[in-house]
Parts: sequence; structure tokens; C-alpha cells
Amino acid sequence: MRDDFLKQLLERMTLDEKIGQLLQLATPFFKGSSSEGQITGPLEGMGITEETAQHAGSVLGASGAGEIMNIQKRHLEDNRLGIPLLMMSDVVHGYKTIFPVPLAIGCSWDLDLARQSAEIAAREAAVSGIHVTFAPMVDLVRDPRWGRVMETTGEDTYLNGEFAKVQVEGFQGENLSSSLEHVAACVKHFAAYGAVEGGRDYNTVDMSERQLREVYLPAYKAALDAGCEMVMTAFTTVNGIPATGNKELMNDLLRKEWGFEGVVISDWGAVKELIPHGVAADESAAALKAITSSVDIEMMTACYNDHLKELVENGSVQESLIDQSVMRILELKEKLGLFDNPYRGADEEKERELVFSKAHREVARRLAGKSSVLLKNDGILPLNKKQKIALIGPFANNNDVLGPWSWLGSKEDAVTMRQGFLSKVSSDQLIIAEGSGIEAMEEKELQEALEAAEEADILVLALGEKSEMSGEAGSRTNIKLPDAQLKLLEKLARTGKPVVSVLFNGRPLDLTEVKKASDAILEAWYPGSEAGQAVADLLFGDVNPSGKLSMSFPANAGQIPVYYNNYNTGRPKDAPDAQERFVSQYLDSENEPLYPFGFGLSYTSFSYDDIQISSSAMTGNETIQLSVKVTNTGKRFGEEIVQLYVQDLVGEVIRPLKELKGFKRIALDPGVSETVTFELTEEQLRYHHSNLEYASDQGDFIAYIGSNSRDVTGVKFQLI
Ligand code: GLC
Repeated sequence: MRDDFLKQLLERMTLDEKIGQLLQLATPFFKGSSSEGQITGPLEGMGITEETAQHAGSVLGASGAGEIMNIQKRHLEDNRLGIPLLMMSDVVHGYKTIFPVPLAIGCSWDLDLARQSAEIAAREAAVSGIHVTFAPMVDLVRDPRWGRVMETTGEDTYLNGEFAKVQVEGFQGENLSSSLEHVAACVKHFAAYGAVEGGRDYNTVDMSERQLREVYLPAYKAALDAGCEMVMTAFTTVNGIPATGNKELMNDLLRKEWGFEGVVISDWGAVKELIPHGVAADESAAALKAITSSVDIEMMTACYNDHLKELVENGSVQESLIDQSVMRILELKEKLGLFDNPYRGADEEKERELVFSKAHREVARRLAGKSSVLLKNDGILPLNKKQKIALIGPFANNNDVLGPWSWLGSKEDAVTMRQGFLSKVSSDQLIIAEGSGIEAMEEKELQEALEAAEEADILVLALGEKSEMSGEAGSRTNIKLPDAQLKLLEKLARTGKPVVSVLFNGRPLDLTEVKKASDAILEAWYPGSEAGQAVADLLFGDVNPSGKLSMSFPANAGQIPVYYNNYNTGRPKDAPDAQERFVSQYLDSENEPLYPFGFGLSYTSFSYDDIQISSSAMTGNETIQLSVKVTNTGKRFGEEIVQLYVQDLVGEVIRPLKELKGFKRIALDPGVSETVTFELTEEQLRYHHSNLEYASDQGDFIAYIGSNSRDVTGVKFQLI
């Protein structure tokens, strides 16, 4: 029935109207938008006429129920066939209630809370009129120089896939068609954008197809297996061809092999960027390459708009190909119910009631508390509420804690460290001094900080990167804290007072100096709207830290890429018979990261005892159970993330020293033990062979269980 409706609609559309559906424009192009007509920057010179905008199929970056309803209403007045607009926006880790950046959420290892945060983000976006969010971003990253590392959940294929799945479930809910408080998700950036050479944004990506399939692709597939409605192309190349014009990646793999029938959208300008990439001579060639690579919507450039008609008329492009793309877009509009109700979930009353509600902020506070990672604690944390505390540093009273992709999140509403601390101690116990800016220090500031330190029992330094030092186009070659802050830390450490360093940053940093100068380190990332409250909860012990790094912290940038699931090489430096020099090592640095994947401390301690394996061998259709007794051996309640890794000792290709295969979060009161069990299947031992066949090998394996990727206990087993 509805299919007939869409088929009949398509038949009634002119070629211009069809091509219009493939165009996505930002809100200033649309009547009824508060920024109507303010075409500036990259939008200028796009040659988009009012008539073009009337045919457009979707809007980029609209927000607010009132504005969106107005844009839709005005559009439907002009659009001959009454085809509603799709409203798409970047709701990456929150709409107005901002959750920790995704890299922080990755460190929570809390899939339920991650799903809940996506659900809340979807609810706030949906009642504000949005239909589609450009999330989850699941690009695997092993290079913290890349600014967008904050937008991913980290370096591990399995963990990223788990988070991809729950984010799609949170955004889209059980049934997108029946819920007005969910939005369609758009997994990005397909594919492997996180592997840019040198960590330099938009740079070349090149790797073997085996590596692409083994390491980088699974998280996109996990999102699509969870029902993700859309895919966004990467700016970068795969196998020497930009994703946005890559038939093998988009037609053969995404559409045919994976069976994806949803809408593909180019990332901003990526269609036109086929020209500077050097694979299209002009915009017409770019349009041809993209449309024949299954890219349905062109975002923010007009190659389709300006050249597709001529390409159809001269026979270069079959109109049926355009029809396919248009039908995918109409089907998404139909699934979202827009033909029956073009305003969908937009509801100004609900918007007032739900957006940035106390309940939503409570979840943000809890997730921020679970996403922060305690990296060091020489017993000075948690803070004693009777102490005189000097809160010093550029983040002591700074609301730049939402991260670079917080879009509609307002810094003014974010809880600062100062505010968080004042919710725990009285103002006469707290001395606040900035001490330095993010990148510069004045002598006067330093003196004030030293005076504050003089009066205090303990120093809490709030340090970090300003949000534009990461995020899109935010790559850095130097991943240390800025010199001014390192100088501030060094001067304050000399006072001899205990020093707690709290970090607000969007990437794994080189914390070598910070580790030397601090008695405790809490990695808080960008914790979101409830930043200061969540950090205060942790520092004063009202919440016990439980976060575990989802990405390795290099000891220095020279080690990059450094990641836990690396390979043994032919000359491992720690082999029993290793030579002094001629082994895989640096002359001037350790191989190991400063802090490994999976690492995170607690205010209590846990013992791992009595690891058991149900059998030392399993056949392909059997499973093996592993168990470990975990005991809270400390004096306070705590949560622990028990991790399971596996090593395939001999493969047809080289195999990582360890691969995460499972994890369980447990909560234990002091003195209490819990036996944690994992199940291993043959399927979890499969990998891509040299011929790309995905299969397991019979042979010897080691299962490792522990509290991070380094501190583990292994037990052998065989696949027979
Ligand atoms: C940006 C980003 C992409 C985002 C899009 C729309 O360039 O690469 O992640 O969704 O443009 O804002």
C-alpha cells in the first residue's frame, strides 16, 4: 500500500524534483529559518536559487521545534508535490543535555548507560523537531594526534562495535516508525577515517583490505546490524579511492556484501572534494563518480544539483539510478511518518519540559562519573572534606567542558569545577586561583597560585586543552599539556603540598611530566553539562572511580601508533633470548604506553583468584567457560570491569598478542567476592585470513583475564 504510494509519487516527480531530493542544504537556505538568507562562508557562491531550495530533500543543522515546524510549513507551501524535508543534525553526545565526549563514554564500558544517553539525546532532539542524527561516529583510532579521537569510543574493534550497537539502539529505539521520541541514526564516517596518516585530519588513509576488514570495518557493520538507517561517507580514501567515489567500498561491500539498503549521505563537501583528491576533473565528473557509488544525498555542495540533469540527458547516468536514490530517501521519510505528519515529534511544550531536564542531567552526571579514569593515586584521594583546598588552573572555573561537538549544548549551563567543589565544601575551605591560561601564563597569575598553595592543605590542579585543540581539524603533533600548564604544575609541585591533577582534554595526552609531578591524576576528558559536579563527586569519594581507558596513553608522541592489540614481531624485545640491541625497540623510549588500554584505578582494590577453565580443548561447536573469583579487598564499595582477552598463538597471518573478547562490570562491597564467568565460542576465534576468508584455525590459544590489558593471568586452551 505505502509502497504504491511512494512509487506513484516518484512517477509524478520531474527530473528536477528528483535531483532536488538528493540535495541537503543548511538552514539559511530555507524560508522560515531564523538564519534565512544569511548565506556566508562556504555557503556563499553555491549558486543555489530559491527554486532549488524548494526542491531540496533535507536540511542540515536545524534545531528547535518552532523553527523546524516553520521551515517545514513554508517548504510544504512551495513544494509542488508536498514532499516533506528531512531534518538532520549532529547530535553526537547529547542535544542540549551534553554527555561526556564519546571517547570518555568508551572509558565507562557501561553499555546500558551509553544506550540511555543516546536515548535521551534522541528524545531531546526529536521533540525539538530533528529526524536524523549524524551519529554514532565509530571510526577506530590508534593515533591521539588526530583531533576527532574525542568523537570515537577508542582503539578496540570489539569495544567500538559494542558501543556502536547500543548507540544505534538508543537513538532509534525498538521501532522508529512508532516512536516520536527517537531519531534515525547515521553511522559515520564510512570508512576508516580514523586511520589518517600522521594523525593529520583529512590526510591519506591507506591499508591492506585485510587490515580494513579485521580492525576498522566491524564497528560500522555492528551499527548497521543494529538497524542503523543511514551511512555517511568519509572524506578520506580507501584503497587509493576517496570513499565518496569508491564503487568497490560503497556498491560492492556496503550495498551488495552487507546488503545495506538505506540512505548514504556524503560528508560536508566530500562529493566536490573528489576534485582536489584528483579523481574527478570537474564537478560533473565528481557528480558522476558519487552517484554511481551509491551516494544518495550530497551534503553542502551542488555537483548533483548543477550536473546530474545534463548527465542523465547525455546518457552518462541512467535516470533509474537517480530513482533508486530518490526512493531510498522517500522510504526513510515514509518510515519516519513524515508524509502523514511532517512535523513528527516537534512539540514546543514537550521541548520545554524535556530538554535539559533535571532527570536528563542526572544521567549525564552518572555517566560522567563512570567515564572519568583514575590514573594515579598515591593515597591522597578521595579528598577530605575538612581540608583547605586550593583549586588552581585554567579549568578551575572554566565552562569549556562540553567538548568540540556539543553543538547546541550551552557552556553557560555547564557545571564548572568551582561550582562542583562548592557543592561539597564551604567557600572558606576553598581557595581558587587560575595560575595560568590554557597556553600562556602571567607572572602575577603564578604568584597568586603559589600564594593559594601556601594556604592550602592540598592542591587540585584543573588542567587541559581548550575544546578547539581537538575535534574536527584539531590535530596536534605535540600531545603534551601546553608548556604554561606544565610550568604551573612543576612550580606547584615544588611547594611540597600534595598535588591532584584533573585533566579536561579531548585526546590521550603524553602525561609523563604530569605523572612525575602529581600524587594523583584523574582523567576527566570533557565530561559534559554536569562536568564539575561529576568530578567533585569522584574527588570527594561520593562516587568511586571505575572508568578504564578505551585508548592507550603514549609515553611520548614518538611511540604513536601504540596500542594494546599489537603484534609480537620477529624480534620481540622481551623474548627470553632477546639480544641487547637488535630487537624491536627504541633507543630512547620504552615500547609500552604510559597507561595501557583497559587501565583504571579505584579507591578500593580487587583481587583476581582461582581462574578456572571448563576444558583445555573445544571443538568448533562447543564452548569453553572461564571463571575468576574477584574480591573487593579494600575498605569501600567499588565497581570493577573484569576483562577477557584471547591470544591466537599461531595463525595463517600474524595475530595480535591480545584481543578483547568480553568484559563484565561488577559492583562489590568491601570484603565481598563474586565469581565472574565468560563463555568463549569458536566464532570469537575467527579472523580474516590472507585470502580474506573469515574463519578460525585449530591450534593453541591463551585466554587472559584481568583488570586491564597488561595485568592479566593467562590459561591455555586448544581449538581442535
Ligand atoms: C562535518 C563532519 C561530520 C558532520 C558533518 C555535518 O564536516 O565531518 O561528522 O556530521 O560535517 O555537520
